[in-house]
Amino acid sequence: MSIIQRENEVLEVRWNPEKPIEDVTRMGDPATPVEVIEEIQDLRAKLGSDLVLLGHHYQRDEVIQFADQRGDSLALSQYAAKMEGAKYVVFLGVHFMAETADMLTPDEVSVILPDKRAGCTMADMADIVDLEDAWEQLGRITDTEKIVPVTYINSTAAVKAFVGRHGGTICTSSNAHKVLSWALSRGEKVFFFPDQHLGRNTGVDLEVPLDKMIVWDPEEPLGGHQQQEVLDARILLWRGHCSVHQHFQPEHADVWRQRIPDIKVIVHPECSHEVVLKADDAGSTSHILKTIKAAEPGTKWAVGTENHLVSRLGQEVAAEGKEVYSLAPYACLCSTMFRISPEALRDTLRNLVEGKVKGQVTVDKETADEANLALSRMFEITG
Ligand code: 13P
Repeated sequence: MSIIQRENEVLEVRWNPEKPIEDVTRMGDPATPVEVIEEIQDLRAKLGSDLVLLGHHYQRDEVIQFADQRGDSLALSQYAAKMEGAKYVVFLGVHFMAETADMLTPDEVSVILPDKRAGCTMADMADIVDLEDAWEQLGRITDTEKIVPVTYINSTAAVKAFVGRHGGTICTSSNAHKVLSWALSRGEKVFFFPDQHLGRNTGVDLEVPLDKMIVWDPEEPLGGHQQQEVLDARILLWRGHCSVHQHFQPEHADVWRQRIPDIKVIVHPECSHEVVLKADDAGSTSHILKTIKAAEPGTKWAVGTENHLVSRLGQEVAAEGKEVYSLAPYACLCSTMFRISPEALRDTLRNLVEGKVKGQVTVDKETADEANLALSRMFEITG
């Protein structure tokens, strides 16, 4: 059997009200899936302009349909930064996105995550205590004033505050090139976390040699390196990754090209460098969507990112004769994003209609002020 899939078997992850998939997030809810959706529609209408729903492209279909603004991490944070008028933001995404929205929206806006367990395993890989410890170790061998720390937006507010107070900034997958280029021009070294793959792929784009980028293992003294190796490095890459994108392997591209010779492979830069090297193109979720929507009718694509996005995109462009496949259909969904179930969204909206704010995500003022320094630098660099 091929490493991708059995012949003619296509992963089906779309929501179908006639045939609901077994969903552990329902937890014995007495309402049928259709009743839940209808109730959300009613509750949403009652809340009117008091409520804005922001949704990330990886969100499941039955939930993303309620997003007033759908986007990648950069677009959602830009939207939150300019938002006016609403009392509540309900985030159809994961915890770090809700934290970022809380820091960027006016104080009177409550940001709510319908299920607080919707975290990000990658963000959890860069623990602030480990990061402070790494910084202290670096300070024993070099001048940390000459190191620019850059965190991917997929990180906790505490990590964003760390980069804010150390003169660093934040990037998303859409602006990583511009941000890393800024950081490299300002420092002798860049410390990039938590995603080693986005850091490496962007570093290569900016012509940093692979051997000048070393992985910092937070569990090892000096990240697992000799002092000289750290001193010689141009970019220190935190040992973190995305649990969804790590499933894609370079061989997946080979198998698709054997099966469909004119297929194009496009992947997210959270995939390993070996996968990005095999791909025809790489970019953020928005880049992937734009590229395939703008492509010639009849083109065929194997896409290396989360399957809800891939499946939905495939259905949207099918009428133009475009074929869209997951690069590895048996790869995992973003299981934390999946925790934002219709039932959790309904419960959140029921509470809001009754004037109760439950599931609010708040960042304390000191952390938010420092993290906002880093976010403002990002917006300045990105323009
Ligand atoms: P983008 O939507 O910015 O490409 O990021 C994907 C992601 O990692 C969401 O957690």
